[in-house]
Amino acid sequence: MGAHKIAIIPGDGIGTPVTQAAWQVISEACALDGAALEATWFDWSCDTFLKTGRMMPEDGIETLRGFDAILLGAVGWPQKVPDSVSLHGLLLPIRKNFTQYANIRPHRLLPGVVGPLRAEKFDILCIRENTEGEYSGAGGRVHQGTADEVAVETSIFTRTGVERILRFGFEQARKRRGKLASVTKSNAQKYSMVFWDEVTDQLAAEYPDVEVSRYHVDAIAARFVMAPETLDVVVASNLFGDILTDLGAAIQGGLGFAASANINPDRSAPSMFEPVHGSAPDIADLGIANPIATIWSAAMMLEHLGETASAVRVMAAIEATTAAGIGTTPGQNSTDEITNAVSERIA
Ligand code: NAD
Ligand code: IPM
Ligand code: MN
Repeated sequence: MGAHKIAIIPGDGIGTPVTQAAWQVISEACALDGAALEATWFDWSCDTFLKTGRMMPEDGIETLRGFDAILLGAVGWPQKVPDSVSLHGLLLPIRKNFTQYANIRPHRLLPGVVGPLRAEKFDILCIRENTEGEYSGAGGRVHQGTADEVAVETSIFTRTGVERILRFGFEQARKRRGKLASVTKSNAQKYSMVFWDEVTDQLAAEYPDVEVSRYHVDAIAARFVMAPETLDVVVASNLFGDILTDLGAAIQGGLGFAASANINPDRSAPSMFEPVHGSAPDIADLGIANPIATIWSAAMMLEHLGETASAVRVMAAIEATTAAGIGTTPGQNSTDEITNAVSERIA
């Protein structure tokens, strides 16, 4: 088989050092396992926008379509370009155009990492709907700047969209501890979230082996902290999933550990792998960004590409690194120290 073609988009801020770290580590792993990777780097970012007026070229999506997978660092630098422009010009259209409807975000404590909770075991798989819902981009503003101004942001939930993400969650639950938590706010949102509950119940009948619980998003946020051991697979809409996964990241020790995969399960277009975190402008020049979230995301990419041996190798190297106390405390090790420590453990 030919080399896997990977598009790498470092993006803004710490996106560059963390994608370089991930590329270094996965290249070494794949070389040992005889798997060939071929990277093409794209400098699409807020700086590109300042030069060209676009976050990516007009044919950017078509260019990416020719790749087997995308590795992305982070997008956004609000001091240069408004987030509403940068994210809607690069990250969000990739997720949507490539129907990467399943955003998989694993939250667990790596060995040696002490999270803020007393819980010794923390292992939740969040499945976030990634193409519609509150991120549909439908809406508008009238009477802008006047006392009569009204802003509308419409959430769109389709049966296709809700059913496929819940089904994906049920399948994941089957592969794990057999429990699925469906997240809504159906006590307050009487159309979209009541619909989501109905679809959950309909699918539950098809998966009698999966134990289903319904939670409101506020209540499950508390449960993440108070009783995380009662949760296994958590399926949530785009916005609720976004918020819960930064909470999950915090509990697993910080955003520097939280990985994510934007999957197109039908494989009709490339999937994209990126950390949960953003460009971290506050630490971007300090050389202390934790690259583990991105290296882990890249391991998920190898798994997706069928390079399971290399994926397992990379995860083992990450775990051996944190078990040795390297990269476990924010700011204690530089990006390079953590990357080299993982790299030394790859063989
Ligand atoms: P952020 O995730 O960039 O940072 C939040 C906090 O976490 C900061 O204090 C930061 O220093 C810290 N942090 C994040 N990643 C870290 C790492 N790897 N190692 C150590 N510390 C880390 O969130 P923000 O500040 O709200 O957003 C900054 C920019 O990034 C904004 O433009 C935002 O829209 C964008 N953003 C992009 C993505 C993405 O591309 N997927 C995700 C989130 C935010
Ligand atoms: C994430 C980010 C993005 C999201 C932003 C930057 C649009 O927070 O990937 O979690 O909300 O999806
Ligand atoms: Mn987020």
